Amino acid sequence: MIDLPRTIEWRDGRVRLINQLLLPEKLEYIETTDWRRIAKAIKDMEIRGAPAIGVAAAFGLALYAYHNRADTLEEFMEGLREAAKVLSSTRPTAVNLFWAIRRVLEAAEKAGSVEEARRRVIEEALAIQREDEEANRKIGEYGEQLIDDGDTVITVCNAGSLATSYWGTATAPIYTALERGKRVRVFALETRPYLQGARLTAWELHRAGVEVYVVTDNSMGILAEKEKIDLAIVGADRVTRLGYVANKIGTYPLSLVSRVHNIPFYVAAPTSTIDMDAAGPEDFEIERRDPREVLYWRGVRIAPEGVSSIYYAFDITPPQLITGIITEKGIAYPPYIKTLRKVKGL
Ligand code: MRU
Repeated sequence: MIDLPRTIEWRDGRVRLINQLLLPEKLEYIETTDWRRIAKAIKDMEIRGAPAIGVAAAFGLALYAYHNRADTLEEFMEGLREAAKVLSSTRPTAVNLFWAIRRVLEAAEKAGSVEEARRRVIEEALAIQREDEEANRKIGEYGEQLIDDGDTVITVCNAGSLATSYWGTATAPIYTALERGKRVRVFALETRPYLQGARLTAWELHRAGVEVYVVTDNSMGILAEKEKIDLAIVGADRVTRLGYVANKIGTYPLSLVSRVHNIPFYVAAPTSTIDMDAAGPEDFEIERRDPREVLYWRGVRIAPEGVSSIYYAFDITPPQLITGIITEKGIAYPPYIKTLRKVKGL
């Protein structure tokens, strides 16, 4: 039985979330009643991963709804929209953030009174969290069929339980395979500069009893050459209707290496990550973070003074390098323009 800690929880007007900046050294929680603290946690990456930040933003709005004392619906909605604006400005690439905020706002807009709006906001946020976990369980069911006993899977960043409500996206097929008695070995690319692979993926997989190896990002070529890698499974921050996939920096090079070495390259993502309004890379923003995150390691400068860095936090893998996209509605295969519409129910 795999038992992972809950990434984020709603506890009667309080939100408790794992402070992911402290892992793997310490498993510590942040508890707050303040929606602004949630916005800070997303911005500072105390919580991260596309589905998890969607849930966090929804819970931020739920905190606003729970604690706000507005007398009129107009006043309540004005404050809610302001909170939504602040939460939306925290990180630009993962579409789940905007999707979740829009869902909660639309639920509130249907209300006829402040009390109803409060209740609707909280219920919608809880539904988003519940559905995320359900989606991941289904991704596990579909993805598990791609894994044979004894396989080695390579992944990048953390698209694990920590990046979602529970079970993860890229890790879901691995956990489900493990529960069904299959032996799976995982190569976790360390994922410079935030080291989500080394710190987070290795932590949760090891805890779950998976044989995991932390490998440097720049070793992906030689690993594909020398080691038996059966499958690449990565997460996504945004999938466009044509099948372009924005995910953590290093995903695109992994897809290229996988193509050259005939390793099937799968993306695992809930349909909430599919953005039908975006066609290609020009239709959304790739987050660029502070160069200091590259130039310093835990406060120690590792590059010469006077030198800067160009730091994109995500890259974009083109559809032609993607074998399939594992969603909770099944695995979408090319041509994505057709199959993504189908899994979206359009
Ligand atoms: O910058 P991060 O840590 O938020 O990036 C996370 C990723 O790139 C994940 O692969 C993605 O969000 C999918 S999480 C299930």
